[in-house]
Amino acid sequence: MNNVQLKVVIVGTGYVGLSTGVCLAYLGHKVVCIDKNKKIIDTLKNGVATIYEPGLQDMMEKAKKNLIFTDTLEDAYPDTNVFIIAVGTPSKTNGDVNISAVEKVAEEIGDILNNNCRPVIVNKSTVPIGSARKVESVIKTRLARRDIQCKFFVASNPEFLREGVAIIDTLYPDRIVVGADETPAINTLRQLYEPILEQNFSLPLSFQRPAGFDKPSFIVTDPTSAELIKYAANSFLAMKISFINEFAGLAEKVGADIKQVAQGIGLDKRIGTRYLEAGLGWGGSCFGKDTRAIVYTASQYNYPMELIQAAIRVNYRQRLNVVEKLQSIIKVIRGSTIGLIGLSFKPNTDDLRDAPSIDIIKKLIELGARVKVYDPVALNEFKRQFSELAVEYCDNVQELSKNCDALVLITEWSEFSSIDWEKVRGLMRQKVFIDGRNMFDKAYLEKLGFTYQGVGR
Ligand SMILES: NC(=O)c1ccc[n+]([C@@H]2O[C@H](COP(=O)([O-])OP(=O)(O)OC[C@H]3O[C@@H](n4cnc5c(N)ncnc54)[C@H](O)[C@@H]3O)[C@@H](O)[C@H]2O)c1
Repeated sequence: MNNVQLKVVIVGTGYVGLSTGVCLAYLGHKVVCIDKNKKIIDTLKNGVATIYEPGLQDMMEKAKKNLIFTDTLEDAYPDTNVFIIAVGTPSKTNGDVNISAVEKVAEEIGDILNNNCRPVIVNKSTVPIGSARKVESVIKTRLARRDIQCKFFVASNPEFLREGVAIIDTLYPDRIVVGADETPAINTLRQLYEPILEQNFSLPLSFQRPAGFDKPSFIVTDPTSAELIKYAANSFLAMKISFINEFAGLAEKVGADIKQVAQGIGLDKRIGTRYLEAGLGWGGSCFGKDTRAIVYTASQYNYPMELIQAAIRVNYRQRLNVVEKLQSIIKVIRGSTIGLIGLSFKPNTDDLRDAPSIDIIKKLIELGARVKVYDPVALNEFKRQFSELAVEYCDNVQELSKNCDALVLITEWSEFSSIDWEKVRGLMRQKVFIDGRNMFDKAYLEKLGFTYQGVGR
């Protein structure tokens, strides 16, 4: 391989920053990962991954000779080629995006650049239209204060990785999008991603190239289009999920099976089978935040995004449908014991941001239920973040099932496929199961005596 080794600084070592930093180091670049949270950095310095992401720990070990963890930008290489901003961009209450962390990082970068460097500053965080310009102006202002003549470039490089498969998505992406106005920025980012674009790195054992995977496309565009690509992609996926969930509701009314409907439409290549699984709807840090953000942006132009607004409404209605199903089966929620199987917003992550479980738990508690919860990975994170919620924590599904009037599957962790339903049946007070992810065989559970309700079946 003839890949060029670049000096890379990544600011923000959360799901995106850490996964990206570890992969870029594995691919041969020299990487400094920075986070303002000292606890995160101390843990990473001890060689321990701070997020749950399959294979990340192992990749960190393999890449360690190229990785430095620190809590200050002062430790950046003086001749850094690429700064990647990967800090959080949470929602404001009105749906707009709070980019103060991005601006803060831009200020800090502006404060350390020197006269001789020509770095590319990359917005990898999901940021609203105009953020590349904003970052550029913040850095220019800081440089002017110190009278530094550094020629730097700003590029938008949105991230499309999914939590739970972040390493696979980073090494084998469908496309890499770069929004930049100047050729040196594009060239440097092409060098950064060369091993991925050419697929000429040595494959990590646990992350073999997916069958049929070809080289990813490298899409070069202007910064505004790159910023919009990210929001359009997430809005489309969110809409697809809400689409199938809306049809799931109708399927329940007319007596159709949404799984078969989804297969019947998904095999049409124009539609595709992915993101067509009816369930409790989307959660996580991105779809909710990004759909609200684009609706907000459009509203500033007096342009209502009707489809996206409907997708948001359908998504949150879907969560409360679970409670309505419980009410229609067990009738009285007050005094009933409900067990939630799974808490994270999807399997293979401990991320609880905007997780359907939280809304469902709050509603059940409000209605007077006793709520028990279990998750194979996210339980500790849940205890930490939601200690105010009066729930009972359980160590496994059997403990969870004891004396429950109903169980609700929230997250389709693969380990749940081996639940011993005969045992569970004997532990419950009433045999009611709401399969929020259509994971189980309805006929089998009904044969065991369960009242089974899936989504759209
Ligand atoms: N999580 C995903 O699946 C995903 C996928 C694609 C894009 N994104 C986008 O990527 C961005 C990051 O998301 P995430 O999930 O990795 O966030 P995260 O909350 O997991 O991580 C952000 C990290 O940035 C650190 N940070 C904040 N301000 C800082 C500063 N001034 N200096 C140094 N560190 C700072 C925080 O301490 C935190 O560790 C967001 O804009 C998000 O929308 C996320």
